[in-house]
Amino acid sequence: MKQRLFVVILLSLSLFSFNPDKEPKRQLNPAIEAKITDLLAKMTLDEKMGQLNQYTSRWEMTGPAPQGTSNQQMLDMIKSGMVGSMLNVTGVDATRKAQKLAVENSRLKIPMIFGYDVIHGYETMFPIPLAEAASWEPELARKSARIAAIETSASGIQWTFAPMVDVARDARWGRFMEGSGEDPYLGSLFAAARVKGFQGDDLSASNTIAACVKHFAAYGFIEAGRDYNTVDISESTLRNVVLPPFKAATDAGALTFMNAFNEIGGIPSTVNSHLLRDILKGEWNFNGFVVSDWNSIGELLIHGVAADKKEAAKLAINAGSDMDMEGNCYVPNLKKLVEEGSVDVKQIDDAVRRVLRVKYLLGLFDDPYKYCDENREKTLILNKENLAASREAAKRSIVLLKNEGQLLPLKKDGQKIALIGELAADKDVPLGSWRAKAIPGSAVSLLEGMKNAVAQPANITYAKGPVYVSGKSLFTVQLEFNTTDRTEIAEAVQVAKSADVVVMALGENCFQTGEGRCQTDIKLKGLQQELLEAVYAANKNVVVVLMNGRPLDISWMAKNVPSIVEAWHLGSEAGNAIADVLFGDYNPAGKLPASFPRTVGQVPIYYNHKSSGRPFDGEGNVFWSHYTDAPNDALFPFGYGLSYTTFDYSDLKISSSTISRGEKLQVSVTVKNTGKVAGEDVVQLYIRDLIGSITRPVKELKCFEKISLKSGESKVVHFTLAENDLAFWGADNQFKAEPGDFKLWIGPNSVDGLETSFKLK
Ligand code: NOJ
Repeated sequence: MKQRLFVVILLSLSLFSFNPDKEPKRQLNPAIEAKITDLLAKMTLDEKMGQLNQYTSRWEMTGPAPQGTSNQQMLDMIKSGMVGSMLNVTGVDATRKAQKLAVENSRLKIPMIFGYDVIHGYETMFPIPLAEAASWEPELARKSARIAAIETSASGIQWTFAPMVDVARDARWGRFMEGSGEDPYLGSLFAAARVKGFQGDDLSASNTIAACVKHFAAYGFIEAGRDYNTVDISESTLRNVVLPPFKAATDAGALTFMNAFNEIGGIPSTVNSHLLRDILKGEWNFNGFVVSDWNSIGELLIHGVAADKKEAAKLAINAGSDMDMEGNCYVPNLKKLVEEGSVDVKQIDDAVRRVLRVKYLLGLFDDPYKYCDENREKTLILNKENLAASREAAKRSIVLLKNEGQLLPLKKDGQKIALIGELAADKDVPLGSWRAKAIPGSAVSLLEGMKNAVAQPANITYAKGPVYVSGKSLFTVQLEFNTTDRTEIAEAVQVAKSADVVVMALGENCFQTGEGRCQTDIKLKGLQQELLEAVYAANKNVVVVLMNGRPLDISWMAKNVPSIVEAWHLGSEAGNAIADVLFGDYNPAGKLPASFPRTVGQVPIYYNHKSSGRPFDGEGNVFWSHYTDAPNDALFPFGYGLSYTTFDYSDLKISSSTISRGEKLQVSVTVKNTGKVAGEDVVQLYIRDLIGSITRPVKELKCFEKISLKSGESKVVHFTLAENDLAFWGADNQFKAEPGDFKLWIGPNSVDGLETSFKLK
């Protein structure tokens, strides 16, 4: 898979080019624009406000319960054309009924658009997005987003609130699981791929849905990793780290954006006109619409930037937030604001035009019920093909972190295996957080997957170990971890003693992650560590299968346990996919999309950090940037992952030690499979710009390629670096490459590899 080619096609070479003069003028369809102009001319101001209003259904809520509007009032408002969109209405029957209310009763018969959080699958669950990023295969993410779109659209919905493209550096944050990790470049590829997957080639087709890129912006930078908290970052971090995935998603054609809940430097994103008007709708020429996050306009009062909902509405619409999700701010106030001259009606017209444009593009005006087809709903959701694709995505998302003494792969026959841990038999946790319409308890458990794979299922003995956690409901605020009831540890130890090898499933319940699921501690919770140590004392041949939605502190495990498999929350087919890896039917090739810290005290930790004036010199002198109680580096670095084979890197070549502006640098390296089995490796190219007008990261991923090699086979891998790949947002607020010296590395992760250097003249 040529990832560079993929970038070129998806991002049209403009991934990082924020220069408005260079921006592609995004094409508008003149026929659609003319229809919108006609329709706008017929609309009253009330009807226009209606298009900017979004309500949740009352039977499923993904935020605090709506206040102020009863169910009956909402139905009446839909009938009078005062609700342009709904979220959380699912299924053909429900969406058709709701659509009928709007189309058959309202004066102008404008269809509603239905949105839903389809984050990693609709009913067929794919790996959580963080896991899928570990595949380093954007094409895989495109395919799973495509299938998610087919299932979503078959249930009457035309819009997903995904992809979530927030760069994340703090493992305490519960929403780490929703994004693609810590790297803006890897995140950009996945952002673009997911948009392409959801939206497909033809938006008006009944199996494509609009994407919603979120959360704009910098939500991953909340202080202390606590959801909804304050963000204060520089323009440089915004431009160089936070925005690239958003830009990539825009270039891939994303139709909608969602505000972030957080402020940046005192300005809540919902009213941040720099983000919304200058950058998104200005520099990037984004033609779609921006939806607020759940009541994020109403929350302006609580942030303390608006005295009342009317002021909040004024600030939000003027800043460029087009649709009000569950805030009840626009409908009661926009008309008054226009009449008294605080909001220009042109602002409203522009917002309405954007909403109508998306509805036209989706084909809703041609047929408001085109997504409502019971036959499609019956046949396209959770079918065999979708489950097979989920298994494929899941196994490709697994990362082998340690495999000392080649304990893995396990034998399918003749080996007595103890399988230990509550998570091993759990059929729900692998579905992950943000699971849309997944049927609770429908995942293939690890126990089932392993039994499916072996010749003699009786060779696998399962011991549950102590209860891990209770209170799994989506809205349980505190999960209750068992830290007292040790009764089942003894049985687990017995089972371990009589086995040749022990597989332990440890990690997190899926509802330890997701929105509002932040933690101060990222160690194994409950009695898991105690169980692990007790089992390890009885039998050293331990393989830990981790199920989790964030980087964890697994320092003890990494030091002691011979084999560790990072298996995240992998979706519907999790157990089968993990068994594929454990028994060697698939040779793992995933790489970490985020650094794993040694301790929570290191977060935020990320490979592409700055040098500082006193980088640690390894000598132990105290006056350097370091901790006195832990090393600086990650336990497992970004880009890290092993295979059942080994690879050797040699012969790093560059086409020239100096390139001029506009010239391209050709880079090549030879990679050899030096082990006994075929395998894949992700060949990664990093650079460092040594001197810049602003400080530059010590390493930056610039390209990569996932290659497949038979035992003994070698391949020369070629990369091309263009001037644009060296560019960044510098001290002069320009996006450009600066002349000077660069280091370049190619290797299997962000730490190891061959090194060379070149100069840009
Ligand atoms: C709040 C979340 O932040 C957002 O990601 C989600 O799309 C909305 N709620 C709607 O459920």
